[in-house]
Amino acid sequence: MCGIVGYIGKQEAYPILVKGLHRLEYRGYDSSGIALLNTAADLNIYKSKGRVADLETYCQGKDISGTIGIAHTRWATHGEPNHANAHPHYSQSEHIALIHNGIIENYVVLKESLKQKGYTFQSDTDTEVLVQLIEYIKTSDNVDISKAVQLALKQVIGAYAIALVEKGNPDLIIAARKSSPLVVGIGEDAFFLASDASPIIEYTKKVIYLDDEEIAIIHRNEQLKIISLGNIEKTPQITQLEMSLGALEKGGYAHFMLKEIFEQPRTLRDCMRGRINIDNNHIVLSGILDNKEKFLNARRILILACGTSWHAGLIGEYLFEEFCRIPVEVEYSSEFRYRHPVIYPDDVVIAISQSGETADTLAAIELAKKAGAFVYGICNVVGSSIPRNTDSGSYTHVGPEIGVASTKAFTAQVLVLIMMALCIGREKKTIPEKRFLQILSELDNIPNKIETILGLNDKIEDLSKIFTYAQNFIYLGRGYSYPVAIEGALKLKEISYIHAEGYPAAEMKHGPIALIDNEMPVVVIATNSTTYDKTISNIQEIKARKGRILAIVNKSDTKVRQMADYTIEIPETEECLDPLLSIIPLQLLSYHIAVKKGGDVDMPRNLAKSVTVE
Ligand code: F6R
Repeated sequence: MCGIVGYIGKQEAYPILVKGLHRLEYRGYDSSGIALLNTAADLNIYKSKGRVADLETYCQGKDISGTIGIAHTRWATHGEPNHANAHPHYSQSEHIALIHNGIIENYVVLKESLKQKGYTFQSDTDTEVLVQLIEYIKTSDNVDISKAVQLALKQVIGAYAIALVEKGNPDLIIAARKSSPLVVGIGEDAFFLASDASPIIEYTKKVIYLDDEEIAIIHRNEQLKIISLGNIEKTPQITQLEMSLGALEKGGYAHFMLKEIFEQPRTLRDCMRGRINIDNNHIVLSGILDNKEKFLNARRILILACGTSWHAGLIGEYLFEEFCRIPVEVEYSSEFRYRHPVIYPDDVVIAISQSGETADTLAAIELAKKAGAFVYGICNVVGSSIPRNTDSGSYTHVGPEIGVASTKAFTAQVLVLIMMALCIGREKKTIPEKRFLQILSELDNIPNKIETILGLNDKIEDLSKIFTYAQNFIYLGRGYSYPVAIEGALKLKEISYIHAEGYPAAEMKHGPIALIDNEMPVVVIATNSTTYDKTISNIQEIKARKGRILAIVNKSDTKVRQMADYTIEIPETEECLDPLLSIIPLQLLSYHIAVKKGGDVDMPRNLAKSVTVE
């Protein structure tokens, strides 16, 4: 997500701002930019698509002088990530430079009205609309810049954290927030500004967290002034930072993994934003629609991935077969690349990767491309190697996933696959319209249902205490729940170092049932599905051998809860969407067991976040 940094003081602003941008890189972004006011009263803006390092290269040899400036990392919402859309944005006269984090929902109306007044626009962003509006109000109402900001923000519907500087005003930064975070740091003869405290903490521990609808008037030689949108002056409340940099990045959670589990309602909303329109009954995945013929004529879909991403791919298999009637094979990238695989030019290959850097998946993609197949990427890290090496794709847009055990990336991968299958199935007419609409409408409920499951965290923590003794675990599921079972098992083994196996429930009697005794915990996903009754039979087989059953059930369940030793109740949903819900209690269970066992949850032994060697 976008990051904001600002500085006004006695030192050169550029190095402080660039360092601050680096600190915010973990948030995820696709372009960056900087605005500096120098002693000659010039307002210089430099921007670059890509990493902060690209911006630094771009700035080489340019005038980067000045003791006041603002800087930004952009995570694209309105308009593609490019130079024009990167922040800061100039006003029409190039006298004001503005950076913004958030979304201005009524920007179309505001833009139209400004266009009628003769304003022209260089970018597709909502941010440029705001800076133009501020300038228009300043000129037409003949008010100073802080009043113009206040009046402009009163017209804005949406979320924002903003900072701006004005040419000819080298002692002033104005900042404001609503629903997007903004922190002001109070230093010795200096003020700092940032989206979170990480760029500030090495300079000062004294910070002020702006509240919604507050405007900070940050003047070089004066006390910080905070006014509300309603023009009431506020007394700045200074907070002493006590947390370490690392803890700040965890947002108050004990571990990144827990934070990332809890982020999932938001990350799934972010993943759907701009793609699903419930009012118009549309799914717009440009990567699919731009390459519609490839998908409509696909002889086969080949899904290539590793680890958790491979588990998401297995769910994709169920989805594409059910809704698109296209045969699917899901392959471990590492096996596929060395197996002399048969690849047809009319195959569509889907490569799934959180990091976008997994070496085996990259190599498997190269093989598929050489054979002439069309390759589509599902990745999280913007600008990483896999998106750069695929023909098209969709980002999951969940922001940086720092915990090594993948959680929020998995659910977003599954969500992208769901949206893809629905989009292709509708184009192919292999999904009845009524069914499409039912699933689309239920997708909108998923984030709230995840919130409900997260409310069970304390109960799941209590349950976890019962299982810390275990040396082995079995996870069972059928249909869409089978990949969830193996993903649940992987989560447990990665961070708690307990041996865990995931199986399709019906496979138990073909061998693994020999492992069951009264010590063996068996986690069964037994939510409502077409195979619910079959799963009950499988549970009976476990019960007859005295296995200790922890079942994930729906509220309406009456049968499983009578057999299970423990149950976790999750909301009901469409069968194909159930993995988005049923994985959440399994993530929490493995997290709490690992914490109880004293493991390094975020950085478990022997594991790396981005696997760049084969
Ligand atoms: C599991 C996990 C790994 C990754 C695997 C693939 O929690 O994180 O299994 O899923 O290394 O990584 P990506 O998705 O980056 O290609």
